[in-house]
Amino acid sequence: MNSKFDARIDVLLSKMTLREKLGQLTQSETVKTGGAEQLKEQVRRGEVGSILMSVGATAGNTPQGEIDVDFYNELQRIAVEEGRLGIPMIFGRDVIHGHRTVYPIPLAMAASFDFDRIKQCYREIAEEATNDSVHWSFAPMLDLARDPRWGRMIESAGEDPFVGRQMARAIVEGFQGEALNDPGSILACAKHFVGYGAAEGGRDYWHTEISDYALYNYYLPAFREAIEAGIQTVMSSFNDINGEPVTASEYYLKEILRDYLGFGGFVVSDYAAIRQLIHNGVAKDECEATVLAMNAGVDLDMVDSCYLKNAEKAIQEGRLSITAIDNAVKNILRIKFEKGLFENPYCKKRKINYLAHRQSAREMAAKSAILLKNEGNILPLRKDMKILLVGEGALERESLHGSWALDGNIEETPNFYEAMLEKIMPAGKLRYDKNCETTLTDADIVVFALCEDAYSTGENACVSHISISDYERSILKRAKALGKKLVGVFFYGRPIAMQGIAEEFDAILYAWHGGSEVAHAAADLLFGDRLPCGKTPVTFPRLATHLPLYYNGYSSGHDVNSYYGESSPGCYRDSLASPYYPFGYGLTYSKLRYGSPILESPVPTVADLEAENTFEVSVTVENIGLFDAEETVQLYIRDKVAKISRPIRELKAFRKILVKKGETVWVSFTLGKKDLGYFDKTGKYVLEAGEFEIYIGSNCLTENKIMVCID
Ligand code: NOJ
Repeated sequence: MNSKFDARIDVLLSKMTLREKLGQLTQSETVKTGGAEQLKEQVRRGEVGSILMSVGATAGNTPQGEIDVDFYNELQRIAVEEGRLGIPMIFGRDVIHGHRTVYPIPLAMAASFDFDRIKQCYREIAEEATNDSVHWSFAPMLDLARDPRWGRMIESAGEDPFVGRQMARAIVEGFQGEALNDPGSILACAKHFVGYGAAEGGRDYWHTEISDYALYNYYLPAFREAIEAGIQTVMSSFNDINGEPVTASEYYLKEILRDYLGFGGFVVSDYAAIRQLIHNGVAKDECEATVLAMNAGVDLDMVDSCYLKNAEKAIQEGRLSITAIDNAVKNILRIKFEKGLFENPYCKKRKINYLAHRQSAREMAAKSAILLKNEGNILPLRKDMKILLVGEGALERESLHGSWALDGNIEETPNFYEAMLEKIMPAGKLRYDKNCETTLTDADIVVFALCEDAYSTGENACVSHISISDYERSILKRAKALGKKLVGVFFYGRPIAMQGIAEEFDAILYAWHGGSEVAHAAADLLFGDRLPCGKTPVTFPRLATHLPLYYNGYSSGHDVNSYYGESSPGCYRDSLASPYYPFGYGLTYSKLRYGSPILESPVPTVADLEAENTFEVSVTVENIGLFDAEETVQLYIRDKVAKISRPIRELKAFRKILVKKGETVWVSFTLGKKDLGYFDKTGKYVLEAGEFEIYIGSNCLTENKIMVCID
């Protein structure tokens, strides 16, 4: 890829020894065995191009300690002033959903369907992280995730490629800002390329089988969007696809990523993944792993120093070309120039408005929470009520942050008990009974705070039971026995199988691992100081044995397995296979009435659509309830007849609107070529004539539709 820095890159390259080139392709962990002095010595010798600012293979679930800015500035000084060529290093850290201020986990943020707000949050996160020496974050994670047993689902945007695309753009634009060399911008990294979320059985690092259709239509769109939004770095994934480990795959990393998607930045391996090619059974030793990864297009070697240790030998033996090394070095140097590291290599502390960021995190957490149930409209609560609060989740702080919150300060995170206390008026009363030992209560209502341990989510943290804990089941039994209305507030990372649980509650607020301010946000929502508006970005199944279960499944030949398991007699003889809460679902405190979709303009022909003509469909949304409401109006399509089986519903657009009590809002959508076609198995975008159903409603099960015919 050409850039305005080419001449400077060529000059540098011409002066570099092979060892120095390999140094640029090496990322070292903050302090490797041997300590800081050894690392400094390696930097001085030009053997380190980048630093991974954490230690350990699963940094998200391993305490990392505070970032020492002086230490990183000193390392950088050594590279710039004592290194022979003065090339700055690039510092990367997993800044996944917050820095000092922790925002909701990405899956929760996706539930807000408010991508402008998400972009703003990532801007704030970038400001905080850059102030702590971070140049580069290993986010966004763009893996489509359909199996909540997989711990890393929490880092994803869920099961829908369209939502994944919005998330990709929001995070890349938020992180990278107007200019990469802005002191408040960090480089984003799209990961894990590709298909990591398809791990069989939700088992981390496991094998994947991905068809060409699924690759192009489900797994690639978010990466395509990130590239269009200007992403400059991509992390290759640990998994194999159909037996081909991605770290060694020219097909995925060159033909698909660079040639097909047009990526022009650099690729970093995942943690020690080059050496792992030996475990994958495609390389007999580190030297062969080096040759495979380099030829596949992995530019930067994360932590295992395979390139540094083996590439010289591979070149001598004629198995690796110097051109391959030079190309990788150029890719990395170009990004260092674009990031402005040659001009501004050091971290200079700026004043950050942390208070404003906490307010923003509170708003984001409120928008991310989903009201799953509200029987008899028992919510919102009144502040003068007598409330009995139960469950040890009310005292939890750490798990409110969730996994991958390396820099959040737990002490500064209020717990739910404290947040509830702030709400109670003098006339009201809050009593906390952690284990619900009371057998009699004069409370008007019981609120049960449930919390999933942060470390049973994230990397290498998969579970086979997506449910509440045995402890929580026992509390639930006791709380039910009190005979009062029961509200459940779930501080969970993953969606859980709701059968046998949801029925026990009168109301459920799913507040997620929502970050530093989620306790406040949940209390705001319970008392109606904010209005719930989140929608499920992923299906909540009835039972874990129904997994995988996702809304955009294909039409099947036999009508037994109709949409989403909704049929009689159903997919399974022994259980109802429909989702407990479908994709796109979430209540408000008000009641909304949708009008029928209306075609606002003539439907273009295929030829018109190919010429970028569009048409409009609109709907009215009327608020007939007692509260204002924020609603995500969703538009799905179904391509009735095509050359291949198409999904029964596909989200193609949504609009987040405020509908005031008693008012009606008119919402219109513009549809065109990009919404009606699909990628065939060669990756070509195809648009076919025929009938399309267009559904507009408040979740994917809506039957509010209009048929259009495209000639
Ligand atoms: C391994 C994880 O898979 C990846 O997402 C992360 O960025 C690296 N470790 C660095 O911590």
